[in-house]
Parts: sequence; C-alpha cells; structure tokens
Amino acid sequence: MTTPQWLPLLSYREYPSEEMQERAAAFYAEMQKRRSVRHFSNRSVPREVIEHCLQVAASAPSGANLQPWHFVVVSDPAVKRQIRAAAEAREQAFYSKRASEEWLEALAPLGTGMHKPFLETAPYLIVIFVQRQSQLPNGRIIKHPYALESVGIATGMLITAIHHAGLASLTYTPSPMRFLNDILRRPRTERPFLVLVVGYPANDAVVPDIHHKPLREVVTLVEP
Ligand SMILES: Cc1cc2nc3c(=O)[nH]c(=O)nc-3n(C[C@H](O)[C@H](O)[C@H](O)COP(=O)(O)O)c2cc1C
Repeated sequence: MTTPQWLPLLSYREYPSEEMQERAAAFYAEMQKRRSVRHFSNRSVPREVIEHCLQVAASAPSGANLQPWHFVVVSDPAVKRQIRAAAEAREQAFYSKRASEEWLEALAPLGTGMHKPFLETAPYLIVIFVQRQSQLPNGRIIKHPYALESVGIATGMLITAIHHAGLASLTYTPSPMRFLNDILRRPRTERPFLVLVVGYPANDAVVPDIHHKPLREVVTLVEP
C-alpha cells in the first residue's frame, strides 16, 4: 500500500467578497456567449491553443485520479474525410430508419440533418475516448470507477477552455461510434465518448433559436 505524500495548497487564492461576485458574474456573462456551432470556417487554428485547452481537460478531477480519458486530435484532411464518410453513413441509417418519432421531434428545432460538412471544414476534430480499465504496474487489471462521470467533467472543461480561448465547438455524437476505434486505431478497451469539432465559426454561421432552462427550473435550494 502506498502512503500518501502531502503538499501545501499553494495554488489557492481567496478573493474579497465583492471581487468574487464580480468574477462569478463576469464568467457567467462570458459563458452565456457559448453556443454549439455547426457552421465552421476552414481557417487554421494555432496548435498551441488546442494543446493548452487539452491541458485544461487533462487536469480535470477523476475517480481515484485514474484519468480515464484519451484525446485524439485530428487535423489530417484525409482522416477527417474518412470520419465524415463513416459518420454520414450512420446518420443516413439513423434519419431514415432508426430514429424514433420522439427523437426526431426533439432534434427538429436544431435543424440538424444527415450531412455533416463541419467534420471536414473545421480544422480540428478532438475525438474523446473513455478508458474503462487499465493495467496496474503489477499487471492487474483495474476497472475505472466513475469513468463516464470523469470524462464528462473533462469534456466540459475542454468545451469551456475552447470557448474561453475564442474558438467555437460542437459536441457531436454519431451513433453508433465504434467506427472511431477503427479509423483512429484505438484499442477496444476504449469507448468513443464524443467528437468535439473545433475551429472558428463561419462568417455567416447561424445558431438555432433555442433557450436554456431558467435557474428556477433546474435548481432547488435547501436553505435554513
Ligand atoms: C452529449 C451531447 C451530444 C450532442 N450530440 C450532438 C450531435 O450529435 N449533433 C449536433 O448537432 N449537436 C449535438 N449536441 C449539441 C446540442 O444539440 C446542443 O448542446 C444543444 O442543442 C444546446 O445548444 P447550445 O450548445 O448552443 O447551448 C450534443 C450535445 C451534447 C451535450
């Protein structure tokens, strides 16, 4: 059994109450501007920016600190083309056969369809995989606790970092997604989680006129 080693918490900084309120409000105002974008420019994005955003994601909390994620960053046009072709084949089956009426109704306000040109136009596709297990140095296989929760948190931090950097993203979830293991040569012990499409929005980008639920609908306060 390893004994824990401790460090002083030097990175924490407390802000005076007023400044804390200003910071919280300013961050909310900033995050209010985030929207999922489906029309991307093909302008290139500095790779260092993507790397910093990935560093944010990779610093996320995770169950037992097992960091059950892997990020494949695709900028190769040939690989993007392959992903688009495979995804559109699945989209076609989804829209023409598999999708239930209720699901199609839920998707209708978003104006999505079976064509996914953004998979080729956007400069980066970040394909996120969940590692469901890993091998300890002693050879034993350990199942990762809360792997999905951990990767969800890391993905949220990645989306936030991308927005903060001044780029746009789209969370894209083709179904089924296993083809991503084959194209990107990831082992079967990893499960594709989602594709994050990243780049600048197109000049004429539009977003659906939809709204987020007000806080009173999604928050319950239990106060003294
Ligand atoms: C887990 C998840 C899966 C999603 N999958 C898709 C998708 O496959 N295609 C798509 O166009 N948008 C997808 N989205 C984007 C949502 O439609 C979008 O977040 C939602 O409509 C709210 O819009 P907003 O992000 O602009 O606030 C997905 C979002 C999440 C969180």
